[in-house]
Amino acid sequence: MLGAGVFGGLILAAWPRRRPACVYNPRWRETFRLEDGTWIAMRLIRPSDKAILERALRTASAQTVYQRFLTVKKRFTPSELRYLTELDNENRLAIGAARIGGSTFEGAGIARLTRDPIDPTRAEIAIAVADHMQRRGLGIRLFERLAQAALERGIRTFDCTILATNDASIRFFTRLDPQAKVIGAGNLVTMRVDLVRNLV
Ligand SMILES: CC(C)(COP(=O)(O)OP(=O)(O)OC[C@H]1O[C@@H](n2cnc3c(N)ncnc32)[C@H](O)[C@@H]1OP(=O)(O)O)[C@@H](O)C(=O)NCCC(=O)NCCS
Repeated sequence: MLGAGVFGGLILAAWPRRRPACVYNPRWRETFRLEDGTWIAMRLIRPSDKAILERALRTASAQTVYQRFLTVKKRFTPSELRYLTELDNENRLAIGAARIGGSTFEGAGIARLTRDPIDPTRAEIAIAVADHMQRRGLGIRLFERLAQAALERGIRTFDCTILATNDASIRFFTRLDPQAKVIGAGNLVTMRVDLVRNLV
């Protein structure tokens, strides 16, 4: 009989290891209270969220929209809506936050990542919080959850392209990571955050 200790071990070592199941999957839900008492629910964005995204764009200020999309945007095209909501949750994933309570489902913020196809340990991210919900700690919470979802998937660095004049975002990323790097020097700069240094 073959020695299971030797050959069995070799077979196991050669077998591709399955990654443990991700916590941040389509069934993941989280509810929490901001310091001001507002209750928030978070989950992954799904294809049926198109109308919520359209409403969020309609109700956001021109400045928030410009800072998020780096262009003037009044509405999404059908293909943009598909791009923003039809995600594989591995290389493209987004976390949505909504206020709990009231008569309608009110989008409060969204954070998304897109994995770099050349360096799979890196992702480009974008975050936007509804104007009336800003400065209440929601952006930090969305970032933290996005970072945890990223680490589960082997992503270790976030890049976020912002307007060089977007002081709120520069402060936001520097608050998250005092060693965050500002890369570039034109109208657009990239904030680079090392997730391993900060969150592991
Ligand atoms: C950047 C953004 C996501 C921050 O979200 P937020 O929920 O307001 O952030 P938080 O309340 O979690 O703030 C965390 C920290 O960031 C910093 N910060 C956030 N907004 C700031 C502002 N307007 N001015 C100065 N510092 C700010 C502060 O240090 C803050 O901590 P503090 O409130 O205890 O001082 C939000 O301003 C936004 O949606 N902006 C428009 C879109 C955008 O620029 N996205 C980034 C590029 S994709």
